[in-house]
Amino acid sequence: MRILVIGSGAREHALLRALRRDPAVTDLHIAPGNAGTASLADAHPVSVTDPEAVAALAVTLEADLVVIGPEVPLVAGAADAVRAAGIPAFGPGAAAAQIEGSKAFAKDVMAAAGVPTAAAVSVEDVAGIDAALDTCGSPYVVKDDGLAAGKGVVVTEDRAVAYAHAADVLAGGHPVLVERFLDGPEVSLFAVCDGTRAVPLLPAQDFKRRNDNDEGPNTGGMGAYAPLDWAPADLVATVQATVLDPVVAEMARRGTPFTGLLYAGLVLTERGPEVIEFNCRFGDPETQVVLELLETPLAGLLKASADGDLSGHTELSWRSGSAVTVVVAAENYPGTPVIGDPIVGADLDGVLHAGTSRGLDGEVLSAGGRVLSAVGSGADLVAARAAAYALVDQIELRGSHHRTDIALAAAEGRL
Ligand code: AMP
Ligand code: GLY
Repeated sequence: MRILVIGSGAREHALLRALRRDPAVTDLHIAPGNAGTASLADAHPVSVTDPEAVAALAVTLEADLVVIGPEVPLVAGAADAVRAAGIPAFGPGAAAAQIEGSKAFAKDVMAAAGVPTAAAVSVEDVAGIDAALDTCGSPYVVKDDGLAAGKGVVVTEDRAVAYAHAADVLAGGHPVLVERFLDGPEVSLFAVCDGTRAVPLLPAQDFKRRNDNDEGPNTGGMGAYAPLDWAPADLVATVQATVLDPVVAEMARRGTPFTGLLYAGLVLTERGPEVIEFNCRFGDPETQVVLELLETPLAGLLKASADGDLSGHTELSWRSGSAVTVVVAAENYPGTPVIGDPIVGADLDGVLHAGTSRGLDGEVLSAGGRVLSAVGSGADLVAARAAAYALVDQIELRGSHHRTDIALAAAEGRL
């Protein structure tokens, strides 16, 4: 199989590593990729926001499968364009990708499918902000109803801060969604879908806040681990029955069947799992840990999804043990990151690249907000954390920051 992967993050680096392990894979290509993916795949420049450019590259390469990593090309219709060119694509078309592209659309699908989620009020102008904050109450949850790379959400008990964020988002021309706060631990559950079936992967936990103890602003994700030994034994079966299956059925009923990766972002409330968001693609950084533990050959699984028939892939196999990833971020991330600095330790085994590029002398330079994702695995979470942080300790990047408490509470049995 000749596979083209679209994207340039640590998620795509992890996808390439897992695809390389599948004996069915002969050739790997990436567009645009980063400094770390070059050793695994041939790199091609492409504008990921241009669906026709993605499809044209796939045709030129005579790809057997295109795996689209990020949400931006999916929402823009890259999977549709690739399929229209006669090549199987892993990922939903633009219509189904609206499950991530519009939070209001996702709420509508959930309401129709009876999926438990936080009550929400959509706000179209500043005159509606106060009433929405009153209805949903404190802690206030105020969301940008558009793609915001995980950074468009403010959760706060400070009404003035909540109001100001809502007004900012409206001023930027986007509608706002105000939600009721869901209380409980967060879980990310991915499912590979073929339009009628959802095959769940291992549940993982992501750390969204910038700083230790879940303080500071929201980010795209500062670390993750899997599996969740503390979670109820029936978690995956419950989410399959109450969330994944009803959503896949509702999307098919609407004539926009969901193929590709359905990411359910959940809170385990006292009432059971409730949805805070859907994404239409693999999560970053959760993918780095979930794929670290996957034994089932990945290319065959993604190709079956793209071909619309997962019937032979409903039982996946997993390595025992745990995996942890710690993100090393550039100075000032999640604000505008400082870039262009040399990195020591970027080529260590287990260090996946995100925002990196090569300098003129082949040195690795920082080129984005989330720069590296160090992945460790081991017999349990204590060992996996030790392996991941041993890598982080060898990385040097001026001004960089990382969290020191990824998977700590779970490793200490405090969840
Ligand atoms: P989202 O972009 O919708 O995933 O939101 C980003 C983060 O904000 C989530 O991972 C949660 O930590 C938090 N969040 C979003 N919605 C809620 C909610 N209704 N209740 C509690 N926390 C939330
Ligand atoms: N880790 C959160 C996301 O991928 O959206």
